Amino acid sequence: MRKETQCVHSGTIKDEKMGGINTPIFTSSAFGYLDRDDISYPRYFNTPNQKAVVEKLCALEGAEDGVLFSSGMAAISTTILAFAGAGEHVVMMDELYGGTHAFATDEFKRLGIDYTFAATDAESVCSAVKENTKLVVIESPTNPLLSVIDIQKVAAFARKHHLVTVIDNTFATPINQNPLKLGIDVVVHSGTKYLGGHSDLCCGVSVTTHEKADRIRSVARHLGGSLNAMTCYLLERSLKTLAVRVERQTKNARNIAHFLEEHPTVRRVHYPGLPGCKGSMIAKSQMHGFGAMLSFELDDAIVNAARFVKKLRLIKPAVSLGGIETTICSPAVTSHAKLSAAERQRIGVTDSLLRLSVGIEQVDDLLEDMQAGLNC
Ligand SMILES: Cc1ncc(COP(=O)(O)O)c(C=O)c1O
Repeated sequence: MRKETQCVHSGTIKDEKMGGINTPIFTSSAFGYLDRDDISYPRYFNTPNQKAVVEKLCALEGAEDGVLFSSGMAAISTTILAFAGAGEHVVMMDELYGGTHAFATDEFKRLGIDYTFAATDAESVCSAVKENTKLVVIESPTNPLLSVIDIQKVAAFARKHHLVTVIDNTFATPINQNPLKLGIDVVVHSGTKYLGGHSDLCCGVSVTTHEKADRIRSVARHLGGSLNAMTCYLLERSLKTLAVRVERQTKNARNIAHFLEEHPTVRRVHYPGLPGCKGSMIAKSQMHGFGAMLSFELDDAIVNAARFVKKLRLIKPAVSLGGIETTICSPAVTSHAKLSAAERQRIGVTDSLLRLSVGIEQVDDLLEDMQAGLNC
């Protein structure tokens, strides 16, 4: 099946009893154990609704197996702890999502895990590897600067040195990028974003091989963080439209990126689909589409970023991203607020940087809203 079809059909559990065409919602947290090989329990990550969603996501990412979590951070933290422990070293990119960055800086020392933040390029990531490195964690495109790293290069180097690689594929989505096919070991997503797609649920997922999924599941059983049946069902329903949503959002984002690039009040646009953007050639070689996230810096001397956001009528100032509605935020005071001002400055998250999550609206309405805001 092609992706659009996988979105609709993969993983669906037949409703044998009533003949309904959707996966039924199995609300039980207590399941019989007699005459069964596998005991089902929500925190064992193996209930019917969890399995249905995992199967769909595995089909979309080209994975053998996966684990569904109650948040993106549960997926990321559990996956990292499954492959790195005390006395071991993790290489991470310094542009990782703020929450992942903060997980390392706030918790690793106490856990005895050594780490290095490397710049967002394959050479820097590979040269940060040490004798005791076990894990490499990357993200591409990054939140919020849309930087792109050569995934294949990192994966090949890590494989040669027997390191596990993890990528956060949230911004790209399985529709626009499939890192397992580029040699990465584990793909994680904040399903709260595009997979859910309607800004009404929180979840995360790790997809990989059977062997690595077993390892992640065994740590996950200790840490908890499983997803309930109702949210699994909502997620499964949302995933049926993932391909059409992301296709439309990507098209809208491309139009807006070009509009902003031409606009005299805009200093810089970060979008991997713009030929002038750093990393655009790599993005072209490893992404099927450039996604629906972009960020831009206004020329402070002409338009104040905070005032511009307040002038918008249709585009909502909101945290999170990936919903069907277009939202805007200032990463310096939201996703990256936990970083010090010096760290933000170093990686380029300036106070005038704005991040746009483009929705499925008619693009002319979005452009008119932005134009009106920029004119003020
Ligand atoms: C790229 C990325 N990864 C991970 C996360 C964490 O996901 P969650 O908020 O679902 O825990 C986020 C949240 O904003 C994100 O943007």
